[in-house]
Amino acid sequence: MTRITRSGMFMFFFFTAALIGWASHPLFAQQMIHYTRRPDAANGKVVYDGGCIACHGADGRGAPEASTRFIRPDTWPDFTRCDQTTPEPDVAYKAVILHGGHSLGFSQIMPAFGDLLNDEQINDVIAYLRSFCRNVHHYPAGELNIPRALVTEKAFPEDELVLSAAANATGAPSWTTDVISEQAFAGRNELEIDVPVNYAVQDHKAASGVGDITVGYKRELFSSLRTGSIFSVQGGILLPTGSSDHGFGAGTTTFEPFAAYDQLIRNTTFLQFQVGGNITVDSSKSPRSLYFRSAIGHSMAPDHGLGRLFSPMVEILGSHDYSPGASTDMDVLPEMQVTVNRRQHIRANIGVREPFTDTSDRHPQVVFYVLWDWAEGKFWRGWR
Ligand code: HEC
Repeated sequence: MTRITRSGMFMFFFFTAALIGWASHPLFAQQMIHYTRRPDAANGKVVYDGGCIACHGADGRGAPEASTRFIRPDTWPDFTRCDQTTPEPDVAYKAVILHGGHSLGFSQIMPAFGDLLNDEQINDVIAYLRSFCRNVHHYPAGELNIPRALVTEKAFPEDELVLSAAANATGAPSWTTDVISEQAFAGRNELEIDVPVNYAVQDHKAASGVGDITVGYKRELFSSLRTGSIFSVQGGILLPTGSSDHGFGAGTTTFEPFAAYDQLIRNTTFLQFQVGGNITVDSSKSPRSLYFRSAIGHSMAPDHGLGRLFSPMVEILGSHDYSPGASTDMDVLPEMQVTVNRRQHIRANIGVREPFTDTSDRHPQVVFYVLWDWAEGKFWRGWR
């Protein structure tokens, strides 16, 4: 126990030092493009008409397939579809234009323009591509889609499938696996379904089963790329599908409202806050609680933000039960998220969740997830 606690503390300091150290390292540049001058969409149109129109079409939907003579990949961009284009940060477009589709595991039909266009021309053509989406203000910008923490939920409405697991590092064996599906719709909204599957050894007997299934609806209320902030609220219902005898469920329906606020600082450092509650219908079965979750992290990628993305983070997690004599539980969770494949639409995150209050009956846990951003293509695409 003490050994684990020490290693947890070590990791906490290691990650904090890494955050501060790497934040200023020149090899790891911005996750957002730093502009030397404002991109000029009119000049971008000149570039587009010269080099892109033959494939992407005058309207940004794509030139007629009869004239392009290639089969469109399932990730073919229709630049008028705001729901497809606004989640893409400018750096993602820039990487494809500079190094070609192949460099990011997309179709090699998309050529590399790094030798033909200079930096400003690329920024200009991206600004022109953006103008194909007419109601851009209805959608939060992809830059605000900061890396997902292990526990703290973020504000950005997502299209992703997450498989996450938490296992006790000490004490009786026990783990939970969550299959989480998130689907964005109409720009600002997201539908979330979370199905937990639990395993635990209690009194030397193993038990497993489904936990309480969550159905949630998230709505982005405010976002601004200029200030780097995004704010959302979510309402969720946890259905009493888990067996409370095994400790796999609350034994009663639970309402879970929360608010999430994320802030980007200087493009690559980010803060995430989530405040919420678990309001059980029958509080005699399971106490009501309030929680506070926060994460601080930093993203860095080699090649001026275009390469593999590393995002070390530290979460501070607190929760308080409304039952007689209950104390506030506090945990610290240092972790590291990395993009796993070339296309960067598969990411993994691992960390150690260390309780620092009430440690007698709460154990350190290893927490992990794999995330698939399915809007960027099928799982097995974009690895090479
Ligand atoms: C020879 C045809 C061709 C030309 C010319 C071309 N593209 Fe493409 N482009 C493609 C194809 C095909 C894809 C789809 C790649 C995929 O999804 O696998 C693509 C994808 C893209 C994407 C990626 C969108 C996303 O979803 O990430 C961007 C951005 C893009 N092109 C911009 C440009 C720009 C800017 C130019 C001109 C400077 C250009 N393209 C010229 C064929 C072309």
